[in-house]
Amino acid sequence: MYSAETFERFKNPKFAGQISDADAVGEIGNFKCGDAMKIYLKIKNGKIEDIKFETYGCVAAIASTDMMCELVKGKTLDEAYEMSNQEIVRGLKGMPQVKVHCSILGTRSLRAAIDEYRKKS
Ligand code: FES
Repeated sequence: MYSAETFERFKNPKFAGQISDADAVGEIGNFKCGDAMKIYLKIKNGKIEDIKFETYGCVAAIASTDMMCELVKGKTLDEAYEMSNQEIVRGLKGMPQVKVHCSILGTRSLRAAIDEYRKKS
């Protein structure tokens, strides 16, 4: 069963959308279930100034990525890169074990975006 926090994030995600002039974009497909996640980053002085996501994922993927965005906004790239899945699940007040793999889509896409940014700069 999902927590109330997870349902709320799913219904009203704060970070859903695109950033048209993003400094970096990271995209990951979850080939296990065919889902995909895209993260957009605005980076200023080595910190995440803004972050948005788009996904074809499920309730867990949407809620956990939205939580991840809130947790990493304002952090340095190094701090954001180390964001753990457990922190996200804790922020959502738990997640069914069978859905934990969905919450990894966000962190993997975030790392892909940071890798892309580092390669460019
Ligand atoms: Fe594939 Fe949740 S993202 S089932």
